[in-house]
Formats: sequence, structure tokens, C-alpha cells
Amino acid sequence: MIIATTIEALQEAKESLKGSIGFVPTMGALHQGHLSLIQQARAENEHLIVSVFVNPTQFLEGEDLDAYPRREQADIKICELAGVDILFMPGIDVMYEKDELSIAAPAIRGYVLEGERRPGHFDGMLQVVMKLLNLSSADRAYFGKKDAQQLSLIDQMVKHYFMDVQIVPCEIVRDEKGLALSSRNVYLSEEEKERALSLSRALKTATRMVMAGELNCERLKTEMREVLAVTDEVEYVAIVDRSFGLLEEVEIGNTIILIAARVGKPRLIDNLWI
Ligand code: PAF
Repeated sequence: MIIATTIEALQEAKESLKGSIGFVPTMGALHQGHLSLIQQARAENEHLIVSVFVNPTQFLEGEDLDAYPRREQADIKICELAGVDILFMPGIDVMYEKDELSIAAPAIRGYVLEGERRPGHFDGMLQVVMKLLNLSSADRAYFGKKDAQQLSLIDQMVKHYFMDVQIVPCEIVRDEKGLALSSRNVYLSEEEKERALSLSRALKTATRMVMAGELNCERLKTEMREVLAVTDEVEYVAIVDRSFGLLEEVEIGNTIILIAARVGKPRLIDNLWI
């Protein structure tokens, strides 16, 4: 595996790749969720590039940029074992210049739900993903469905800017009890982890209700909020279509049910695609 920390080193390393390239962008602190993206990308492409870059422009003032978990040595080992060809680990000065051209997330899809709680977050996320996709020259790039709004915006960016890369949505990975894996789960105490399970329980409640024929979004959200009462704060429970428009009735095949809730310090998100 080649570890590239500069653009030049990345370009040079790519020259030896002949055949399709899969790309998995990450912010490091790799866990089983990332590994499943890496494994899928490995299986579907001749070559595999992974990036580890904690992108400052997608953190808002007061968010956990400095405290964001960093485990570079462990990340390198994991990538090596997973058969990654090139691991791109740039510093901030490699990725950004002083007077940057910026990308703005769309006014509606980029500023509801996550975008409303974290205004500007998606601008920074899209900016770095555009850079990383261009740098990787990937045929396919892999993103988890857990960050559903992120995935949807990246899809939109790739379409609107006519970028020649296929965005591959990947299933949410959960621990044995159902907690969706996230780098921020390391902040949860054992007691908080138990309460954090209410997110996946609420989604299971919604699944059961939909399977029993309940399609009314208000009634689904009311039941879900009851399950989520053990969290410290429910930020939102939302039922949207795949373009993030709010729904009154579930549309099977075109619906995402999303939750954001705080348990202890961390803010957790989870969702269900139906
Ligand atoms: O999902 C993430 O880890 C980040 O938002 C991403 C896509 C790597 C961009 O920094």
C-alpha cells in the first residue's frame, strides 16, 4: 500500500493503476462501518483508494473538530489489511488555499434537518468531496446511507456538475444490538449506549407500523417520539422523500425516516429507507 500525503505523491501513485478505481473518502477513526464500504469498493473495482482527512470546513464554530477522534496508525493498519492500494492522508494546507472558491449546498435540501442544525456544514462537506473525487479519478465512490442527507447532496452535486463518477450508496452497519456505527460512538458511556439503542428501536417501531399498513407520517412520528423519550433531546424525527421533501404519507420505495437525537454529549443520527 502506498501512503500519499501530497497531491504529487497521489498522482504518481495513481499512474501505476490500470483498471477501474473505487474510492472511499473518510475522516478516519475507521470502524466496521467504514470497513464495509472499503470491502464493497475492494470487491467491485480493480483498484482501491481510501482517503483519511478530517475536513475543517465541514465543522461549525464550537463543534468537535479538535476533539474529533484521530487514529492514524490504526487507520493505516486497517487499510493495509483491507487491501487498499493508495491511502491518501493529506494535511490541511495540501487540501486548502487561503482564498478558496466555495461550493454552496442548495438552499432547501442543504438547509433542512442536518443543514438547519448545522448551517454551512454541507457547503464544507461538498467542497471537500468535490476535491477528493476529482483527485481520486475514481470510477465509483462509496458513501454510507447513514448520512442520508450527505449522500443525497453528493448525488445531486455529481449530477449538477456532470462529474464522471458513480456514487454507490452503502447499507448502514450496526452493532449486535442495533446501534448504527459511528466514530462518535466512542464518546458514549455504557449507560448511554443502552439509551442510544432507542434510535434503532424507534425505526423498528416505524417499520412494524408501516408493515401493518400505517402510512400516516404524524402517527408514525408520534409513536417514534415515545420510544425516543429516553434520549436527552430529540432534535428531529422526519419523514421525507428521496429529495428531502417532507411527506404526509409514506411512499413505499421513495421514503427515508430520519432521527437526530442527543444522548449524553454526542449527537446521534440514524435512518431507515423504505
Ligand atoms: O462522511 C464523512 O466521513 C465525511 O463527511 C466525508 C464524506 C469523508 C467528507 O469529509
